[in-house]
Amino acid sequence: MNLTVIGTGYVGLVSGTCFAEMGNTVTCIDVDEKKIENLKKGIIPIYEPGLEAMVNRNVLNKTLKFSNNLSINLEKCDIAFIAVGTPMGDDGSADLQYVLQVAKEIGSYMQHSLIVVDKSTVPVGTADKVRDTIQKELDNRNVNISFDVVSNPEFLKEGDAINDFMKPDRVIVGSDNEVAQEKMRALYSPFFRSSMDRLITMDVRSAEMTKYVANAMLATKISFMNEIANICELVGADVNKVRIGIGSDSRIGYSFIYPGSGYGGSCFPKDVKALKKTAEEHGYNAKLITSVEDVNNAQKLVIANKVVERFGEDLNNKTFAIWGLAFKPETDDMREAPSIYIIKELLKRGAKIQAYDPKAMDKAKHFYLKGIKNISYFNSKYETLQNADAMILLTEWKEFRSPDFEELKTQLKHPLVFDGRNQYNYERMKILGFEYFQIGKK
Ligand code: UDX
Repeated sequence: MNLTVIGTGYVGLVSGTCFAEMGNTVTCIDVDEKKIENLKKGIIPIYEPGLEAMVNRNVLNKTLKFSNNLSINLEKCDIAFIAVGTPMGDDGSADLQYVLQVAKEIGSYMQHSLIVVDKSTVPVGTADKVRDTIQKELDNRNVNISFDVVSNPEFLKEGDAINDFMKPDRVIVGSDNEVAQEKMRALYSPFFRSSMDRLITMDVRSAEMTKYVANAMLATKISFMNEIANICELVGADVNKVRIGIGSDSRIGYSFIYPGSGYGGSCFPKDVKALKKTAEEHGYNAKLITSVEDVNNAQKLVIANKVVERFGEDLNNKTFAIWGLAFKPETDDMREAPSIYIIKELLKRGAKIQAYDPKAMDKAKHFYLKGIKNISYFNSKYETLQNADAMILLTEWKEFRSPDFEELKTQLKHPLVFDGRNQYNYERMKILGFEYFQIGKK
């Protein structure tokens, strides 16, 4: 099929590239001219394992193109995907200005019957707004062209996005029109080798809701476990053991019950807030979802609180080695990363920071921690340790999982580790002579 994907952010770029990989002809559109120029040269704006190679392969095969021009590319298009950002507005709701702007442009350029797909994460009712916006433009032009608006939310995880797209757990297609459903089924069928059961069709509003509910459910599991971790510390239990104990119940399962420094990223914080806001707009006070958010905000500072408990309120003359800045491993994304909150809290108290992350340091320096004094960046995890009072682990990159602990002891002023991701074995760290702080075990 001939596809147009509008928006070359995380979702748009990964989706467009994977559709091309499956043999479709895809044009990815963006208003950002520099970004498009770079993409044409094979310069990818994000770090995502496997993406660069896949983009370049498909550009070479001419199955993937990049352009700033929507009008030309809509001419031959069968399906147009809206994959622009829906940032959090000032009141916590999803800001739809970019989605509706694209809808307007589609309406003003469309020459033939088209399926328009909402791939961006959008609140319930957005498909109706997109439909109305397109229709209004068609009416202004005085033309009569049929089109369908389909909701097809994306469930990819950063760091594993290609895999999630190529081998999806499920694909949700929300559409009230059988012809559009059939076309979407044909598009996705190569992604399901044996069974199409995992392509789930439903009405548009339920599809829009599904995305938010999936993320809110996962965020709830994490906040629940983080709260349990805090209780475990108070009662003298070990959350790592409790986690294994409860995960063995197949109704609960082991995934997404890892306590830590709270969830970050582009999805959970934004989507939990937006779902709460949607409920509020309909007169419902979503208490559980509100608590999920409150627990997460507090959890981001648990490690900083442990540092203060150990060293006192005044951290002047203290230096901390930070291992990991990204909100999770295998990405350079720092959106809502716990590291930002923890570092700022320590700096506020006078500390100095020596940081290392395998991929996120550029984004930290030039954006998320831009211009902040008393942070220095190092090229390796061991270099950060020199003369530091403690090491604080904030992202569970593989290279941090089994470091040379003797090197840590040699470099650090004290053999002291704060582990915001419970990566090390408590008993072993004690035997090795470390003073070791974890989440959920005192
Ligand atoms: C998430 C969803 O998984 C994905 O389906 C959706 O499309 C987008 O949002 P992502 O934000 O890339 O994906 O990361 P994910 O791996 O889900 O982790 C989110 C956050 O939860 C991270 O900060 C991670 O550290 C944290 N987390 C995850 C925990 O603290 N504990 C866990 O057990 C699992």
